[in-house]
Parts: sequence; C-alpha cells; structure tokens
Amino acid sequence: MDTQTTLPESATSSFSTRTDSIYDCIVEPMHQVERMLRDQMQSKYEDLAPLLAHGALLGGKRLRPALVLLSGMATGSITTEHIVVGTVVEMVHTATLIHDDVLDSAQHRRHMPTVNAKWNNQTSILLGDYLFSQAFTLSASLGSTLACRWIGEAARLVCEGELRQIMTQGLMRLGEEDYLDIIRGKTAELCRVSCRLGAAYSNADETTQQTLASYGENLGIAFQIADDYLDLWGSAERVGKTLGTDLDQAKPTLPLIRLLETDPLMEDQIETILSLEADQRFQAIMQRLERSDAKQYTLETARRFATNAIDAIESLPSSDAKQTLCDIAMFSVNRGF
Ligand code: IPE
Ligand code: IPE
Ligand code: MG
Ligand code: MG
Repeated sequence: MDTQTTLPESATSSFSTRTDSIYDCIVEPMHQVERMLRDQMQSKYEDLAPLLAHGALLGGKRLRPALVLLSGMATGSITTEHIVVGTVVEMVHTATLIHDDVLDSAQHRRHMPTVNAKWNNQTSILLGDYLFSQAFTLSASLGSTLACRWIGEAARLVCEGELRQIMTQGLMRLGEEDYLDIIRGKTAELCRVSCRLGAAYSNADETTQQTLASYGENLGIAFQIADDYLDLWGSAERVGKTLGTDLDQAKPTLPLIRLLETDPLMEDQIETILSLEADQRFQAIMQRLERSDAKQYTLETARRFATNAIDAIESLPSSDAKQTLCDIAMFSVNRGF
C-alpha cells in the first residue's frame, strides 16, 4: 500500500455526518445521536451554554457512535437503545479527550481551541467530569444495566491505559508489547465495547458479539498507532489538533520505540536529546527517525491491525454496514497524512 495514500479531503479532517459520505448507511441514526448529544448538554444556566456546546457538540468524527450503529446494523437492526449507547460512548470519549488535552497541554482539538486553551485547566477537569456523570446517568436510563456495566469497565480501562502511559513518560526503552498493551486500554477498549454493545443490542449471539469486539479492538489499536504516526508526520491543519505533543511529553510511541530498537547509537543519545529545548529536540529526533525505518514500520504495523480488524468480521454476511466497517478500518490508517 502506498504510504502517502489519502482519502478525499472531506474524509481526512472529519467524516462526521455533517461532511462525509462514509456514514451514508447510518445518516438518520447519526442525526439522532447528534440530537441526543445536544439534549444532554443543556443547562438552565445560560452562561454554561457556550462551554457545553464547545466541549461536546462541535466537531469530532463521531467514530464510536458510528461503530455502535454499524455493529448493530451489521448484526440486526438499529433501535433506540443503539442511539442511547452511541450517545453515551461519545460523551465518555469526549470527556477523556478534554482531560487528555490538559495532560498534554494541547491548544487545539477538532479544529478549534481546546477547552483548556479557551477557558482553563480547572474548567476542563470539571467539564470532563460533567460529561462522565451525564453519560452514566443516561446509560442508566436503559432497560438493563448491561451498557452501564460494560462502558463503566471500559472507562476504567481507558484511565488505566492513560495512567500507565503517564508512568512511562521518558521511558523510551518501553517494549513494543507494553506499548500495545497501553493503547489497547486507552484507545482500543472504547472502540471494542462500542462494537460489542452494538451487536449485543441487536440480540446477536455471544460468538457474533466477540467477532465485532475483535474488530473494534484491532481497529482501535490501528487508529491509535496511526494517531501516533500523525503526531510526528501529520499536518496539524488537516488533523485539526495540536501535534508533536507526544515528544513534548516524552511519550514512548511506536516510532520512537522502533528507533531505539534498531539504532544502537540512540541508546546513549536519547537522554541528552530529550533534555534539549523543544524545537531542537524535535529536529534531532526527526532527523534520526528519517534515517531509520521507523516511519515505514509504524505505518505497516498500523495497517496490519487494520487488516486484522477487517479479517475479524469476514464471517458476517455482506451488508452496507459491514462494508462501511471495512472502509473505516482502511480510513483509520490512511488519514490526514
Ligand atoms: C482522538 O480520537 C483520540 C485518540 C484515540 C487518538 P478521535 O480522533 O476519534 O477524536 P474525535 O472524536 O474525532 O475528535
Ligand atoms: C489518546 O491519546 C487519548 C485518549 C484515548 C484519551 P493521545 O494523547 O495521542 O490523543 P490525542 O492525540 O491527544 O488526540
Ligand atoms: Mg493527547
Ligand atoms: Mg495523539
């Protein structure tokens, strides 16, 4: 596959219901999710309205609700429960991003200033908490506790992944398996549970639920590896968020891990490079990365997981929803380059 392959412009910055045809077969239920999100983010205090809108309603690819709906559609039909579950996972996801932008001191997200940049860190922490609380209240409105339990556990694993990542700050010799384990928690878990819940609410049997869960997990890993690639080689304008934060935060992502594994000189140099000023550090690392196979290796690894995701759902009967899940897997590793 060509490393420079891109989707049309409309798909690279966002493939939300507003802008793109990738969600063609779920346009109406995606609008319902959007409406429910808006309803959830109301406050009787007028001065909170811009904050709630900024934090949760604007931008975003809405990938996780799309996964709920498509998994539901690929295994049965979409019900009101899918709309609620889709809204809940998007709220949980958005809460984690608002908090993550504080951790990463990020200034841009979804083509706009972050909540921490526009307001401040305190506001971000509270808005994230607001979204988490509202999400779990909404999930408790469902007839069974299934979604609440599974999403609760997924949110715990996301936090565990983020915590483990914080603990590895500066530890560039992290093994690839540990890196994969961390991103399986912080990113893949919510994708996995979105897909599994989509199937469960279509009354799919356990084997089919696991099929979708496996798709979601592999997709989430592919997606995060591609995100880590974009953090170094992406265009901030196209991706719509602050890039370069992984290096600023000394996060050991796959390109760096590969560089250290393949360039013996880096073993001795990495501490010195990391202690340089931000610009010099970025330049020094980029030069070494360009001389290594880390860029290619990172893309190939992301694409391997995307292929695993597609293979996982091979046994499902053909449908528009299944095809869209395959398209999303391809998109996740071919975006914004
Ligand atoms: C960003 O997720 C965080 C990662 C898991 C890399 P998305 O790229 O899905 O963010 P939005 O929701 O579209 O803004
Ligand atoms: C993903 O990690 C964050 C969460 C899953 C909460 P990143 O820190 O790489 O995400 P971005 O790049 O800021 O979106
Ligand atoms: Mg971040
Ligand atoms: Mg990132």
